[in-house]
Amino acid sequence: MVTNVYLPRPSRIVSVREEAQGIKTFTVRAPEGEPSWPRFAPGQFLEVTVFGVGEAPFSITSAPGSPGELELTVAAVGEVTEELHALAAGDVIGVRGPYGRGFPIGDMKGRRLLFVAGGIGLAPLRSLIGHVISERDDYGEISIYYGARNPSLLCFCEDLTAWESAPHIQVRVTVDSPDAAWQGPVGTVTSLLAKEGYEAGGATAFVCGPPVMIRHTLRVLLEMGFAPKDVITTLERRMECGVGKCGHCTVGKARVCVDGPVFSCAELLDLKEGL
Ligand SMILES: Cc1cc2nc3c(=O)[nH]c(=O)nc-3n(C[C@H](O)[C@H](O)[C@H](O)COP(=O)(O)OP(=O)(O)OC[C@H]3O[C@@H](n4cnc5c(N)ncnc54)[C@H](O)[C@@H]3O)c2cc1C
Ligand code: FES
Repeated sequence: MVTNVYLPRPSRIVSVREEAQGIKTFTVRAPEGEPSWPRFAPGQFLEVTVFGVGEAPFSITSAPGSPGELELTVAAVGEVTEELHALAAGDVIGVRGPYGRGFPIGDMKGRRLLFVAGGIGLAPLRSLIGHVISERDDYGEISIYYGARNPSLLCFCEDLTAWESAPHIQVRVTVDSPDAAWQGPVGTVTSLLAKEGYEAGGATAFVCGPPVMIRHTLRVLLEMGFAPKDVITTLERRMECGVGKCGHCTVGKARVCVDGPVFSCAELLDLKEGL
């Protein structure tokens, strides 16, 4: 039987939780009639349809390994995402994918890992961090730097607490504008990283967040001595087909939906993008 890649498969929402202000996490069951989700790699994304409204791409934020369900974390910014936020447990969405090239897990073994995320940019990195923690002995020390504009916009607070108490994981969380209860660092995540410093030798860095944060962090990491091939980030481009056909997501000679969304800084320099 020939399957139509453009046809969304119906999948049921199992639960919805408020992640942060204007951001919700959806747990979604494997498509109807399928025993489990297709295998996916951290960094891959799904095309999600809200029936009658439209389709949009979202990173898978849960780690591979619980094949019956996965999680998507969505900021309400426009038509599709606002309608998605109006859905509840039991409602059905359409899904296509998983699509795209994920993080280079094979190249990371034995290395120290630095994660730098801003706001909802922690979503794709959370999938990778969960995977790395599930195979902890394969990797060196882990450092996670995370920032948001204010405390109400911090995502995955329970995970941050759990990661902090795991062996050989350092977690640093900062906000640009603190509230009265905030006791942590204040300022951007990039400034915190630059101030505290990081030994680049033997390390791979992963960066995800708003475009301006990514640009600034990539520069800081290169100044710290990281080789461009050891700095990995994700590109967000407007997408239509998600499978390399329509050309909407083209950057230089790359199509972000199939050649990315994960790219090394060396690849971005080649594409003259992101720095
Ligand atoms: C590979 C990939 C992974 C993504 N993962 C996530 C995720 O995990 N969680 C999440 O909340 N969002 C994610 N996004 C962004 C998400 O797809 C958009 O927010 C969504 O398409 C907006 O749809 P909308 O109809 O609600 O908004 P629209 O009404 O289409 O647009 C609302 C506003 O958002 C801007 N916008 C829309 N799409 C993008 C985009 N791709 N890049 C930059 N600006 C955009 C528009 O210009 C407009 O200003 C991802 C995008 C890509 C390409
Ligand atoms: S979204 Fe169509 S080619 Fe990438």
